[in-house]
Amino acid sequence: MPRYAYVNGRYVAHRDAAVHIEDRGYQFADGVYEVVTVKDGRLVDAKAHMDRLDRSLKEMQIGWPVSRPVMQMIMGELIRRNGLRDGLVYMQVTRGVAPRNHSFPNPEVRPALVMTTKRLAFDRMPKFTEGVCVITATDERWARRDIKTISLLPNCLNKQKATEAGCYEAWQIDPRDGTVTEATASNAWIVTEEGELVTRPATHRILNGITRLTILKIAEEEGVPFVERAFTPEEAKRAKEAFVTSATSFVTPVVKIDDTPIGDGKVGPICRKLLAGYNEYAAGLRTRGAEWPDEIPADASGGTRAA
Ligand code: PDD
Repeated sequence: MPRYAYVNGRYVAHRDAAVHIEDRGYQFADGVYEVVTVKDGRLVDAKAHMDRLDRSLKEMQIGWPVSRPVMQMIMGELIRRNGLRDGLVYMQVTRGVAPRNHSFPNPEVRPALVMTTKRLAFDRMPKFTEGVCVITATDERWARRDIKTISLLPNCLNKQKATEAGCYEAWQIDPRDGTVTEATASNAWIVTEEGELVTRPATHRILNGITRLTILKIAEEEGVPFVERAFTPEEAKRAKEAFVTSATSFVTPVVKIDDTPIGDGKVGPICRKLLAGYNEYAAGLRTRGAEWPDEIPADASGGTRAA
């Protein structure tokens, strides 16, 4: 089956998909993005991702490239065309195409929208059952990590260090106070010696993960005590359990940080409970936001030109 991408109003063959060389995303990383999980053919937390996209766009003073309902229709249509059951939808909005100039284009140009899908076999990923290792690395990012911008170079450099160490992620350490901010593409969590679940509060220092918010809800429902506060890598290494969350990591247990095994070095009960809860939630078996329908529309044409 040919794979499609959506580029500025057209569904095109993925291999031919291209944007203009003066797209400000390409020149200045002047754009934002979202990654939405598709599991068993359903979008997970689509409304929350659209709300965060709206927030990121506002913080960057970029307009919506299409209306929210049309965005949802495009997602549905791309999922349908690509026959996607398990994987993700990636969407990126940049300020648009204009002659290179650091100031915003004046008059404004139309924001550019690109959307792709990727297949992922969530059911066959050993990370969920065996856990992963992470390294620690200095967080060298800017001061507005709460905005989901496509400017990800420091994240890429730290992720590469993790890859070279044979690990899944890098937990980034804020040089100002030595606390863990988050991983390069996921949020960081520990379960303390006292059994309390800990993750950082959502400030400008981290991206407020949609999966993070869902896991906080599930922890509450499951009666797992939690607190939102910063923690150090030293505390994390003494923790009973640790894990990361993201749209593609769900709840991925961390069994080693640098060279220190976490707890008994095996996946712990809280991780298992929260992952099971998340899987149920993704399958629609728990409360979901009703305002933004997560079901993929059957006849989503997107109201846009098809290739
Ligand atoms: N990353 N923190 C960072 C820096 C991230 O890039 C992400 C997501 C998260 C988790 O957010 P969410 O739960 O909404 O996925 C936290 C995506 C998956 C990515 O860049 O591919």
